[in-house]
Amino acid sequence: MRSSTITGLGRYIPRRIMTNAELEQLVDTSDEWIVSRTGIRERRIAEPDQASSDLAYEASIEALADAGVSAEEIDLIIVGTATPDMLFPATACILQDRLGAKQAGAFDVSAACTSWAYAAAVAHGYVSSGQADTVLVVGTETLSKIINWKDRNTSVLFGDSAGAVVMKPCEPGKGFLSFHLGSDGSGGPFIALPAGGSRLPASYETVEREQHYLTMNGREVYKFAVRCIPRAIEEAVKRAGIDIEDVDLFIPHQANIRIIDAAAERLRQPKEKFFVNVERYGNTSAASVPVALYEAVRSGQVKEGDVVVMVAFGGGLTWASSAIRWTMPTQNSTSAR
Ligand code: ACO
Repeated sequence: MRSSTITGLGRYIPRRIMTNAELEQLVDTSDEWIVSRTGIRERRIAEPDQASSDLAYEASIEALADAGVSAEEIDLIIVGTATPDMLFPATACILQDRLGAKQAGAFDVSAACTSWAYAAAVAHGYVSSGQADTVLVVGTETLSKIINWKDRNTSVLFGDSAGAVVMKPCEPGKGFLSFHLGSDGSGGPFIALPAGGSRLPASYETVEREQHYLTMNGREVYKFAVRCIPRAIEEAVKRAGIDIEDVDLFIPHQANIRIIDAAAERLRQPKEKFFVNVERYGNTSAASVPVALYEAVRSGQVKEGDVVVMVAFGGGLTWASSAIRWTMPTQNSTSAR
């Protein structure tokens, strides 16, 4: 059996910056509250005419160029997103068409903020079993489109962006060393978008009741995240057959700095080993980990041979972790753009 590795990285960050000061004008909140409770100082917001596939397209173009791969060479496109362009067709199919990836199968993975991490695990299965040689894995979100901008419990937390990677085969012992996926559907109501599906089809009433917006029980999600991240990291490390001290960098889902700090403390690992960019983007859901990975690599925090452990959690409830020995022959790994 072969393994898989990441051979190209891309990201797209919308231009529009929304600061905490701007949010103070929309809801009863303050920069002090947001920074002290979450670590978030600003987030990016997509344009009104930008959908998740548009962000995904830009990130994918960069990842393909970085990997030196043409669209025709892609065997499979997997898009992880909680904010697809529409219920169907899949955002991956819209992306496939725009890229001109004529040989590619395409589908979406839905695991809320964990979607990209799940998608990467699926891609690894395809590549390591020999069923695909080149897989494009994208995490893309326009959370701003499903946020209730009058709800201070959620509007201060989220942002928009996209991250993409190209995955190709590599020899065992290099590239991805392990994956671990988990779910607990009993916690589903803690983060949900109640209307617009078959349980509660969209209607005037659902819009009136604001059920087309994301709802969240922040305290429950917080408790879940603080429990789940250390366990998921330990599982990825165990499955990789390494020791936690062998990990050079942790790349956690960027939801809240307090969650990341609490995980570091529970694992007795220095905070410096946890990559953080939540202050600039907020929680970008499925895009969070691939964008963080991109920035960690581009800024030189990940070097050839380093062991990186990525961990995500989110609605479902879901969580996923992976360990990778960095082998990327990236052509552009000089500075963050
Ligand atoms: N500004 C000011 N006050 C606020 C705000 C705000 N934006 N939001 C809530 N408050 C108030 C609350 O109303 C509450 O007031 P009360 O005590 O009078 O009732 C008080 O602040 C404290 O509220 P808590 O919920 O206890 O605040 P907490 O310290 O738990 O922080 C937070 C809230 C930031 C939401 C935290 O619970 C959290 O980060 N949870 C995890 C969220 C998360 O990661 N979600 C993403 C999941 S991934 C996915 O799949 C989408």
